[in-house]
Amino acid sequence: MAWKTENRRLEVVEKPGTPYLTDALRKYLEEKYVPRYPTRRAVLIPALHLIQHTYGWIPTAAMEELAGFIGCSPAETMDTATFYEEFWLKPKGKYLLQVCRSLTCEICESGKLADHVKRKLNVEHGQTTPDGRFTFVELECLGACGTAPVALVNEVLHENLTVEKFDQIMSTLPADPAEYHDPTITWAEEKH
Ligand code: FES
Repeated sequence: MAWKTENRRLEVVEKPGTPYLTDALRKYLEEKYVPRYPTRRAVLIPALHLIQHTYGWIPTAAMEELAGFIGCSPAETMDTATFYEEFWLKPKGKYLLQVCRSLTCEICESGKLADHVKRKLNVEHGQTTPDGRFTFVELECLGACGTAPVALVNEVLHENLTVEKFDQIMSTLPADPAEYHDPTITWAEEKH
């Protein structure tokens, strides 16, 4: 694995007209998350997940707002968000397709599956289709080696995959991503 470095000191932070951390999100964090943890700072990672679930990614301005809310520096928030590759710091497609490429899945022909998806969508690893619907990623072991090959469609795990089975799963995704409701997201469904 190679380290990627980015000079964020020169990054221009776009300030939205209305904050990412809306009153509703603050209230939700205050009532549901803060009481579960010994300190406000300990809410950092779950709050980053909540922001990502709400917006599909984590804008830098949202990290600044969150830092103020939990009482840490923006740099600490950014350090944490940039450490985990599961956090998206740039917009991604509405449907995130992640095919496992680790050893067991590879033996079970995940490469064939990944090649099929790349050809079908005309994208490479980490790219998003021009219509903003799909982002494709190959990632490491998902801990479901017993049912390899596996893939995630957004946050739903699909097992024992074949090219045909994956096509079938994709065909069930609504043409209009606005109609898609990720079954793993409860806050967004409650609020929107
Ligand atoms: Fe794919 Fe473990 S190698 S889930």
